Amino acid sequence: MSLQSRKVELERLLLNHAGLWRPQPFKDPKPAWCEVYPALAAEALSVPEAALDARAADTPGLIRWLARHLPELAALLPLTSLPVAPHHTLPAVAPHVHSHVPWRKQAQIEAFTAAIGAPRAPVLEWCAGLGHLGRSLAATWQRPVLSLEIDPALCVRGAALSRGQDQHFLQADALDPASARYLEDRHTVALHACGDLHRRLVIAAGEQRCPALDLAPCCYYRTTLPVYRPLTGGALCLNHDDLRLAVTDTATATPRQRQRSRQAMAWKLAFQVLAGELTGRPYHPLKPVPEAWLATGFEAWCRRLAAREGLHLPAAVAWPALEAEGYARAGRVRRLELVRLAFRRALEVWLVADLALHLEHLGYRVWLSSFCPESVTPRNLLLSARLA
Ligand SMILES: C[S@@+](CC[C@H](N)C(=O)[O-])C[C@H]1O[C@@H](n2cnc3c(N)ncnc32)[C@H](O)[C@@H]1O
Repeated sequence: MSLQSRKVELERLLLNHAGLWRPQPFKDPKPAWCEVYPALAAEALSVPEAALDARAADTPGLIRWLARHLPELAALLPLTSLPVAPHHTLPAVAPHVHSHVPWRKQAQIEAFTAAIGAPRAPVLEWCAGLGHLGRSLAATWQRPVLSLEIDPALCVRGAALSRGQDQHFLQADALDPASARYLEDRHTVALHACGDLHRRLVIAAGEQRCPALDLAPCCYYRTTLPVYRPLTGGALCLNHDDLRLAVTDTATATPRQRQRSRQAMAWKLAFQVLAGELTGRPYHPLKPVPEAWLATGFEAWCRRLAAREGLHLPAAVAWPALEAEGYARAGRVRRLELVRLAFRRALEVWLVADLALHLEHLGYRVWLSSFCPESVTPRNLLLSARLA
């Protein structure tokens, strides 16, 4: 399937079914689609608690379920499945190269390194962090690596870790137009560069005729743009909530993290009940609530949040009943959300296909693949581009 047809077909399905994935049950407890597809809503609401996390994590399963109600959505399965990246055999590196690297990051780096093979030119590592990927590439291929990173402390620590390798750190802002010059004549790699950082990379790489690029994007919503407009045209534009949906997954969450997030959702929904009674408005937008507050207990959490929001609580509140109401609402939200979760990978593949197509239009040979299993990182899409 060509990149162009993948992008166009995903866009058509996403636009035609925006009524299913745009409404957020957290803010809109009865999305309009529940009236249009009552059998789908009833099925969603009847998913047993014991099956809910597994259902939510299984995007292909959710697509197959939706396709039983809307058969044209079955096309999302081939459109969102990408080939597994090649696995090149790598020269062995000394174990100390990977010491200090958390095991999941190390697994990502080994998979990324094996997927891209030997660099074509000296390497530029874009938004390097501690430069773990760059260090691995320098050791594996004995090629010089320049690791660009904005945070001076990370540059200093990364440089200390890289001793003995041909890796140098450059403290610079990737968004500064002056940084584009480092892309010239370098094979550029970027592991988990967030929204504006990977978009800037793709645009600058095309302008500088960067000979080779391997990019695993993440956090598409980290952007100063109020709305994402595709680089290669088309009618689908995404706001921050849409961009967040593209990275809503829990594949690597621990049971404790899942439990905390269920609790946070239930308490926030309970707070919405309180706020609704006090303000008369159906939804009270909340800035992020510090996770540490969860340890204080439900009543103290609500009081603290009410103070922050400038809401005066009534003298008597039936706290246990209110908390129970929050959990009941959260159960409903988590079930209705299954419908929008079916579209998350489609949004992500569409976003990456747009970046890839931009480079293809500039004469690059471009391919998309997945470089590791989702259990290693759900942000496992790899965009590879080479100048002919
Ligand atoms: C998600 S981390 C990824 C780090 C590393 N590539 C990895 O996979 O471990 C993103 C990195 O981008 C850096 N960063 C953020 N804004 C930047 C900018 N404007 N210019 C350069 N680096 C930036 C952050 O400091 C952070 O180290």
